[in-house]
Amino acid sequence: MKKVITYGSFDLFHEGHYRLLKRAKALGDYLIVGVTTEHYDELRGKMNVVDSLMDRIENVRKTGFADEIIIEDHEGQKVEDIIKYGVDIFTVGSDWTGSFDFMKKYCEVVYLERTRDISSTMLRSKKYNIIRLGIIGTGRIAARMVPEVKYISGINVDAIYNPHIESAKRFAEQFEINRYMDDLEELYQEIDAVYVASPHQTHYEYIKTAIGHHKHVLCEKPMVLKKWQAEKLFQMAEDNKVILMEAIKTAYCPGFNQLLSIVRSGAIGNVCDVEACFTKLESPLSRELTDISYGGSFTELGSYTMLPILKVLGENYREVEFKSQRAENGLDIYTKAYFTYDNGFGTAKNGLGVKSEGQLIISGTKGYIVVDAPWWKTTSFEVCYEDQSQNEKYFSKFLNDGLRYEIGDFVSGINGFGEKLLKLTKGESIALAEVMEKFLWGRKDRTSSR
Ligand code: CTP
Repeated sequence: MKKVITYGSFDLFHEGHYRLLKRAKALGDYLIVGVTTEHYDELRGKMNVVDSLMDRIENVRKTGFADEIIIEDHEGQKVEDIIKYGVDIFTVGSDWTGSFDFMKKYCEVVYLERTRDISSTMLRSKKYNIIRLGIIGTGRIAARMVPEVKYISGINVDAIYNPHIESAKRFAEQFEINRYMDDLEELYQEIDAVYVASPHQTHYEYIKTAIGHHKHVLCEKPMVLKKWQAEKLFQMAEDNKVILMEAIKTAYCPGFNQLLSIVRSGAIGNVCDVEACFTKLESPLSRELTDISYGGSFTELGSYTMLPILKVLGENYREVEFKSQRAENGLDIYTKAYFTYDNGFGTAKNGLGVKSEGQLIISGTKGYIVVDAPWWKTTSFEVCYEDQSQNEKYFSKFLNDGLRYEIGDFVSGINGFGEKLLKLTKGESIALAEVMEKFLWGRKDRTSSR
């Protein structure tokens, strides 16, 4: 019996897929089809697959060509499968010609002529209009966002806004953006969605006006600094049927989500403690260390360190207490936030003038997880047990700046799939705003100009 194997995402199943499977089956007697998981697709940079894994498997099954369907979830699996299933022929479309020649060591490799003028990418962009994105703010993070948007299909940066027109113009020229403006009404005429990357304290008003104009919003962290503001904005977003998403990149990246799945699986038992640390050395003259009202280590970095605490231990902490080391102007250069839960503790450590290991440790009743620094760009972590021989290390990709993951989810949310599955929930964003509010309230009257 001649065994044939082929692989693909098979998203928005189309004629090209059908013809490929038909010819693959005709190459032998028994056809195995490997369908990729979302996680694996994300790792290899395909971030907006529309159909769920179950739907994609079902569509392959319905063709009647596959004798067996398997799931492809990691790099290197193809060779493993060929050996495991005793495969004679490996086949894929001609868009891959040459890429799999190294497998000739294990079996015959056949590249089948690709069907012209059809692909999942093409169908995705036909099905959904290209989202026109406007950016509010022209600072460092906005500059890092523009190149990352290019990796996600279905969205394009169309306009840039800054209240100082010269800054908007400079940014537009640097990044070849068609439109720039200093008038918000004009911006909202041009776009479908907005990325808010302005100073923290301006977020609330920008988000409010954007949602008022029925625009979807992706906003930099911390989204807002008061609980009522977060509650009000999410209510407005719901009423106006738009997506509101807080841009904490770690929340959307594959490695961090894999880590959360392992915690949820019970592998380390009941979690009793989460410790997260994020420090950066900034110049004392930087905005972060001189903006008396909104600067300091916790407002800058606390969104990151609170993320795993809220994700793992939940939004319903019993109390939170802050301890800070301050600079002369009263701004915190180092802050530890202690969360107490009914069944555990969380510690968020942040420094802007203090440097430490950027580690995350999650401790449970059966074992613990250590995420290597920098944990917020999760690329590797180890699940550890009393019996060290049981320890297991996991690796994941974190591409470039990692901002593409949050944009991918933003696009999915806008297009109406994955909306309920947003990786950072409304409740979590509201809890983050509440902690920021408590922190700033405790700090008031302690900061002053030099
Ligand atoms: N394929 C084909 N003809 C097409 C499209 C795909 O023969 N017009 C083949 C691919 O070469 C691959 C298989 O179908 O062997 C599954 O491909 P997949 O990547 O799922 O489909 P694409 O439409 O190429 O997806 P995308 O646009 O997301 O890359």
